[in-house]
Amino acid sequence: MKRPILIHPDPRLKKACAPVPDLSDKLRVLADDMLETMYDAPGIGLAAPQIGVLDRLIVLDCAKADDGEAPRPLVMFNPQVVASSDERNVYEEGCLSIPDQYAEVERPKVVDVEWLDRDGTLQRETFDGLWATCVQHEIDHLDGKLFIDYLKPLKRQMITRKMVKLKRDRARA
Ligand code: NI
Repeated sequence: MKRPILIHPDPRLKKACAPVPDLSDKLRVLADDMLETMYDAPGIGLAAPQIGVLDRLIVLDCAKADDGEAPRPLVMFNPQVVASSDERNVYEEGCLSIPDQYAEVERPKVVDVEWLDRDGTLQRETFDGLWATCVQHEIDHLDGKLFIDYLKPLKRQMITRKMVKLKRDRARA
């Protein structure tokens, strides 16, 4: 089932999320809902707080369908960056909670991430390029951090003002 995506600014997007203690069918349904919501948007990543659930859960799929890559939906409970490269990379990032706004953000180019998969099995994988950027962006959400928090205050405020206006216009519509 598709869930509504919260738009910045929203206090729930600024909260640190709690680790998931035990995997349950309810959490697996939530993960499936998040994947459906993400693909529908369309987007390449979504974090639970973006649908108002303050659990440490993210989903992502950065496979490039245009290049003939098969979909690779990943569900990560309690994801953690356990190592990151000194080498850095700049990507133009966006966010489903900040529609139509994009800005360059610099992050480590390669990261090792550990997480629990939907069966509760501990996984560890090295991510590079767009996958690395996306997984770091989504994990940031679990700590109440948005990509605009990396920007200069003036640029951040400008984007926030646009989002306030967008939400006001939507509420009136
Ligand atoms: Ni985001």
